[in-house]
Amino acid sequence: MDARSTWDTDDLPQGEEKVAAVQGMFDAIAPRYDRLNRIISFRLDVRWRKRAVRDLALAPRSLVLDLASGTGDLCIDLAKGGVRPISMDLSFGMLSADRSGAPRVQTDILHLPVPDASVDGVTCGFALRNLLDLPTFFDELGRVVRPGGRIALLDVSVPSNRLVRWGNDIYFGKVVPRIGALLSDGPAYRYLPRSVAYLPTPDEMLAALREAGFADATHAQLSGGLTQLLVGTRS
Ligand SMILES: C[S@@+](CC[C@H](N)C(=O)[O-])C[C@H]1O[C@@H](n2cnc3c(N)ncnc32)[C@H](O)[C@@H]1O
Repeated sequence: MDARSTWDTDDLPQGEEKVAAVQGMFDAIAPRYDRLNRIISFRLDVRWRKRAVRDLALAPRSLVLDLASGTGDLCIDLAKGGVRPISMDLSFGMLSADRSGAPRVQTDILHLPVPDASVDGVTCGFALRNLLDLPTFFDELGRVVRPGGRIALLDVSVPSNRLVRWGNDIYFGKVVPRIGALLSDGPAYRYLPRSVAYLPTPDEMLAALREAGFADATHAQLSGGLTQLLVGTRS
């Protein structure tokens, strides 16, 4: 549970520089984002999002914010699951590539433009490591999700098995940046694998989620720990 990234954050941007870098990077890679995701994850990303929607386990017609929605893949799965998604993201480029048909809002998800206890659920796919302050984000989820509402948060992970972690480091450290350089944007696909270093450990995230009002929060490793899923119910 406490595997840490073999990379560190020393030469990654911090503070407002990080926000600007993240926004600019996603604006730039938006047109080819979906294609690259399918290629570099061998389509596992599709399976991981479906699992998140399944574990969200909300009643039909529930109102769900998909935060850092990107091009809207989770919104599509949420709508197929019978709930009503709203897509929120920082990047105009990603939002304009969103073909989900969900209502779209451009915002920094650390400060959600919705009233307290006003939504039934929240999803967030592959964005936790991009945020400046995870405890503030989790507190914001605790504020907007009604009691009994649910959250499902996905992000990449550091596999706890040493052999899997070694293979993962080579693939994301050497292969993915080359694929990115060939088909999209080299610097972005060098940054993305390294950005896992921003993430706290699962235990630290679980503690912060419980503190934010999700007392039953759980953590699961998907596909041998390539990705992680945090799920919880607002107490
Ligand atoms: C790796 S993409 C994930 C997109 C989508 N959720 C998915 O599953 O493919 C990360 C997204 O997080 C967004 N993002 C990063 N920081 C954000 C912030 N502070 N507020 C809102 N969106 C943010 C980026 O613009 C980008 O669209």
